[in-house]
Amino acid sequence: MFNIILFGPPGSGKGTQSEKLIAAYGLKHLSTGDLLRSEIARKTPLGIEAKSLMDKGHLVPDEVVVGMISSALDEHPEAKGFLFDGFPRTVAQSEALDKLLKLKNTEIGVVLALDVSEEELVKRLLNRGLTSGRSDDTNEAVVRARIIEYKQKTTVVANYYEKFNKVVHLKGEGTVEEIFSGLCSEIDKRLSI
Ligand code: AP5
Repeated sequence: MFNIILFGPPGSGKGTQSEKLIAAYGLKHLSTGDLLRSEIARKTPLGIEAKSLMDKGHLVPDEVVVGMISSALDEHPEAKGFLFDGFPRTVAQSEALDKLLKLKNTEIGVVLALDVSEEELVKRLLNRGLTSGRSDDTNEAVVRARIIEYKQKTTVVANYYEKFNKVVHLKGEGTVEEIFSGLCSEIDKRLSI
């Protein structure tokens, strides 16, 4: 089993590249943002609570997202590997993920971090907000609040995995194909070991 974390700030291209990577490598895509938006669409109590935080650009509590990931891992015992997108976002989430994977005799193979300038992130997200229907993309103050949450709570996740030599930084600006090719070459290096 080969597990990947696709890491980076809001708008860095995690979702875009995840779609291509799961098709290329047959991995199971686990996006906590998508799981939360599905709860919101179904108007579950969890979704209602999460929406009020997401609409402000704040993170949802660790125990909520860890619980969702734990269930999702159990639902896919047949998976060749998992691609984590938008998770983990705090050190507590990273530690919880490592424990969950250890119970399944597996671990994170690599953390692929997409680096994109702040102005490009804001531009991409506001542009997507014109058509996406995502309420957290339509207001510049909320977009910037998401980036602040990332800087304050999530950048440390890369430091956590750097201790285990698992992080590779890649330029997240350029064409989608150029970035995909860089990601694939990092994955292929590790799969051929
Ligand atoms: P989530 O859904 O994870 O959103 P995000 O991290 O803010 O990321 P985005 O989906 O906005 O961006 P992305 O990096 O996937 O980029 P994308 O490919 O879409 O989280 C939303 C909220 O849920 C959080 O704010 C939080 O409240 C909550 N949440 C989720 N996970 C959580 C967790 N673990 N803990 C706590 N709370 C959590 O691309 C963006 C745009 O750019 C698109 O329009 C795309 O077409 C475009 N684009 C992509 N690549 C390129 C390129 N190379 N050049 C030009 N444009 C590009």
